[in-house]
Amino acid sequence: MPTVMITGANRGLGFEFAHQYAEDGWNVIATCRTPELASELNKLDGVTEYKLDVGDFDAVAQLAQQLSGIAIDVLINNAGVYGPKAYSLAELDYDVWQDVMHINTFAPLHVTRCFAPHVAASQYKRIATLSSKMGSMADNSSGGSYIYRSSKAGLNAVMKSVAMDFAPQGITTIILHPGWVRTEMGGPNGLIDAPQSVRGMRQVIASASAEHNGRFFNYDGSEIPW
Ligand SMILES: NC(=O)c1ccc[n+]([C@@H]2O[C@H](COP(=O)([O-])OP(=O)(O)OC[C@H]3O[C@@H](n4cnc5c(N)ncnc54)[C@H](OP(=O)(O)O)[C@@H]3O)[C@@H](O)[C@H]2O)c1
Repeated sequence: MPTVMITGANRGLGFEFAHQYAEDGWNVIATCRTPELASELNKLDGVTEYKLDVGDFDAVAQLAQQLSGIAIDVLINNAGVYGPKAYSLAELDYDVWQDVMHINTFAPLHVTRCFAPHVAASQYKRIATLSSKMGSMADNSSGGSYIYRSSKAGLNAVMKSVAMDFAPQGITTIILHPGWVRTEMGGPNGLIDAPQSVRGMRQVIASASAEHNGRFFNYDGSEIPW
């Protein structure tokens, strides 16, 4: 069976990815900050858990080394943070901004760099990164959310370059918006639940080929303008 690796797999969309891939019989490498507290994840069959804070770059490199020789068919960069919601422009905290950039922009790139050889050695060779429509310039008609928007816009830019740089190795890289989902981050007013979002994103990942490389897709498969 193929292998998928998911970051931030203990709750929300990351957990649902682990759940659905495991149910389909995939080998699931589920990483999270505190596996000892990931009680729902612990109950899933076919899931191997690894402790990983994606912001700890040495730990990411060490895990890649520990898993060297293991082919990863699908790498899902899921872990992310919203950062402070209430900050107005006048209150912007640049240190906090840097922390959010570290997790949402730098860390997925570092994970991708470290695990690209595992993906290149696999059969499917796909990298999917959870971004957000809030990182789209074209979609920004309401302003605000400086920190989250810029972290996801930066993520889109680096993943576009990853798509170009790794294409010669046969890797297909796509960028995903999961919809507005009822998770801890999305809150209770989200429009869809995690199972629906993840079913859609898995379908987009499964049908991704070279022609989709470096493009930005909604969970329902429609394309999102940058
Ligand atoms: N929900 C939405 O409506 C929505 C919309 C657009 C985009 N997204 C994106 O979708 C992804 C998943 O979001 P979600 O809704 O599932 O959010 P969530 O419920 O808040 O879950 C976030 C996950 O990321 C993990 N995480 C945060 N910082 C981490 C770190 N430094 N190292 C490792 N894991 C870390 C969390 O782990 P801990 O439990 O340890 O904190 C948790 O597992 C994110 O990238 C988010 O930006 C979500």
